[in-house]
Amino acid sequence: ADVKKYQFDIQVKNVSRLCHAKPIVTVNGRFPGPTIYAREGDRVLINVTNHAQYNMSIHWHGLKQFRNGWADGPAYITQCPIKTGNSYTYDFNITGQRGTLWWHAHIFWLRATVYGAIVIMPQLGTPFPFPQPEREEVLLLGEWWNNDVEQLVNQGNKLGLPPNASDAHTINGKPGPLFPCSEKHTFAMEVEQGKTYLLRIINAALNDELFFAVAGHNLTVVEIDAVYTKPFTTQAILIAPGQTTSVLIQATQSPGRYFMAARPFMDAPISIDNKTATAILQYKGIPNTILPILPQLPSPNDTAFALDYNSKLRSLNSKQFPANVPLKVDRHLLFTAGLGINACPSCLNGTKLTASLNNITFVMPQIGLLQAHYFKIKGVFRTDFPDNPPTPFNYTGAPLTANLGTTLGTRLSKIAYNSTVQLVLQDTNLLTVESHPFHLHGYNFFVVGTGIGNFDPKKDPAKFNLVDPPERNTVGVPTGGWTAVRFRADNPGVWFMHCHLELHTSWGLKTAFVVENGNGPDESVLPPPQDLPLC
Ligand code: C2O
Repeated sequence: ADVKKYQFDIQVKNVSRLCHAKPIVTVNGRFPGPTIYAREGDRVLINVTNHAQYNMSIHWHGLKQFRNGWADGPAYITQCPIKTGNSYTYDFNITGQRGTLWWHAHIFWLRATVYGAIVIMPQLGTPFPFPQPEREEVLLLGEWWNNDVEQLVNQGNKLGLPPNASDAHTINGKPGPLFPCSEKHTFAMEVEQGKTYLLRIINAALNDELFFAVAGHNLTVVEIDAVYTKPFTTQAILIAPGQTTSVLIQATQSPGRYFMAARPFMDAPISIDNKTATAILQYKGIPNTILPILPQLPSPNDTAFALDYNSKLRSLNSKQFPANVPLKVDRHLLFTAGLGINACPSCLNGTKLTASLNNITFVMPQIGLLQAHYFKIKGVFRTDFPDNPPTPFNYTGAPLTANLGTTLGTRLSKIAYNSTVQLVLQDTNLLTVESHPFHLHGYNFFVVGTGIGNFDPKKDPAKFNLVDPPERNTVGVPTGGWTAVRFRADNPGVWFMHCHLELHTSWGLKTAFVVENGNGPDESVLPPPQDLPLC
């Protein structure tokens, strides 16, 4: 195992896209930021120095950070922000994970431009469980706003309504030639006839789940969220913000130029598609003058495709070698996710949209929760987050205008070390039904079941997949449906869980788990590093 060192300088840089130039926050002046390359077993040290006039904090999305929440990164959850002029070194080991993950700013909406890939190669001498590709390429899917994102959010907060949607989607920071002034902002990948390539696809968009496809070429999914899957072939993939998907692609079509394209899966009431990002798959020796072909993508509201696609994601396990899913559950949790309306005296209409879990809108604390937990600082958070919704109702029935108001609080669930947890995330129709991609820090979970309508604790568990469920860190809860996950709480610390749609996170669709220390020698939170930023 090696020690890999990186220097991340947070700096503001002028970048132009879609005929608009604006200053954006970057790492080392790059957009998207640098890729972290490591091997399973490596120790990684990333020194982040903040030269910008913004508070900063970076999250290594999907890395388990065993006993080491100090390196996890979400501001006010596991650390205080790195202030202007200050540095902090994220110091962590990569154990038991290989594949594609990513990193992003985890404070305010700064991840709009502060993000990059993490590529974890398997241990030396261990091959991929799929054919060795000729070459691999990282594809970061993102969003671009012509206006300053912070200003947009502030304007949204004033109105109590969502801020304007982004102006374009991007592939590796580039929108592609379907947008004005974007010929030169087009990502291209050259391939040779007959060879196989690995695409490491990451959804770094703030607010959109995305379909992705390549014209004329099938994609074979082999890994999601840094866990290998049973390979399956598809024309398009669906990827939620926070998720990663590695696919093999074979360059076996007639030599030419083919578009890769990404556009939203939006089964929310508003579905507009004027934002398709494109990049080019270019066969070697083909002139740039040939017009590329566009792929067929599922329509923006194709929920049937989404359900079918997700059902094909399976771990490498089998009946004979089943996945390590907890079969006995110590703690049953049912969390409803929904949008609501709260009073807002400072807002234009006197109300604002909010979001909640079990009708609780999470309030961000003033200091890091992990600090408060470790140093036993009282009054920062409560551990009385309810295991079930306050009042059961027909969650996915007609819109429920009663129940729209939520209560505010910094309330967490306390979980006994090493206990097994089943968490059912239930979408609700408080205001409207909508898909929510949930991300849990510090863990992977097994996605054991999903369905449309209300979760039925009597009937649904009988249909759970306990043999080869996908193991991941972010899962989409279907529109008007539910998703059940299981995990063993063997990583002590304070772990954030939230909807990875930035809009919903900032509206309060989040909470955290406090996983207690165990009694064994390696079962407690490690002491904090010397340079941990303080508030
Ligand atoms: Cu990728 Cu808490 O987020």
